[in-house]
Amino acid sequence: MSQKLNIVLFGPPGAGKGTQSTFLIGRYGLVHLSTGDLLRAEINAETELGLRAQGIMSRGELVSDDIVIGMIRNKIDANGDTKGFIFDGFPRTKAQAEALDALLNPSGNPITMMLALEVPEEELVKRLLGRGATSGRADDKDESVIRTRIREYEQKTAPLKDYYSAQKKFKGIDGMGSVEEITDRLVAAI
Ligand code: AP5
Repeated sequence: MSQKLNIVLFGPPGAGKGTQSTFLIGRYGLVHLSTGDLLRAEINAETELGLRAQGIMSRGELVSDDIVIGMIRNKIDANGDTKGFIFDGFPRTKAQAEALDALLNPSGNPITMMLALEVPEEELVKRLLGRGATSGRADDKDESVIRTRIREYEQKTAPLKDYYSAQKKFKGIDGMGSVEEITDRLVAAI
């Protein structure tokens, strides 16, 4: 059987990871795993995990590694026959990246590549405030929470570029322009 296509779609909050995942899963037949979506589903269902995550997310901070690694492990186990995964918003720390390698590598289907959407901070803030004004994600409404999310990304998540560069899997993608232009760049890189 041919190798699976396992993509880490990377970038700061508002870079377009969720938007672009929608197109890529259809084109390549992949399963979309967004830890943000999984956490929001737990919050909506008022589970114990959701209640623990809610306050942390509303402040724009990262949820603990144990919680998100456990959620991802369950989803990988439940989708053994997929053509591959798009990981959106995961991994976000070195511990998460190491855990993902430990989950995937024994199966012979490691991460294929990290595609990192690059967008300047002021554009990120503009996009997220725009979404917060209309569709109502709690962590998009307040500019200071948005900036906390961006700082968390810079301090804890951006260093993962080095982790994947060392494995020769990192590809930077210009995340400015129309949604279609950016999809074309991602497809060319894949
Ligand atoms: P998460 O849900 O992952 O959110 P995020 O990383 O903050 O990213 P967003 O979903 O806001 O942005 P995106 O890059 O997907 O962009 P999108 O396509 O939506 O995480 C939320 C929280 O959960 C975290 O803060 C943390 O607390 C917790 N969490 C999640 N994962 C975790 C983990 N692994 N470890 C620990 N904690 C974790 O687009 C954004 C907006 O821009 C949209 O309105 C869209 O329409 C617009 N847009 C998209 N593309 C363009 C374009 N080309 N031009 C103009 N506008 C565009």
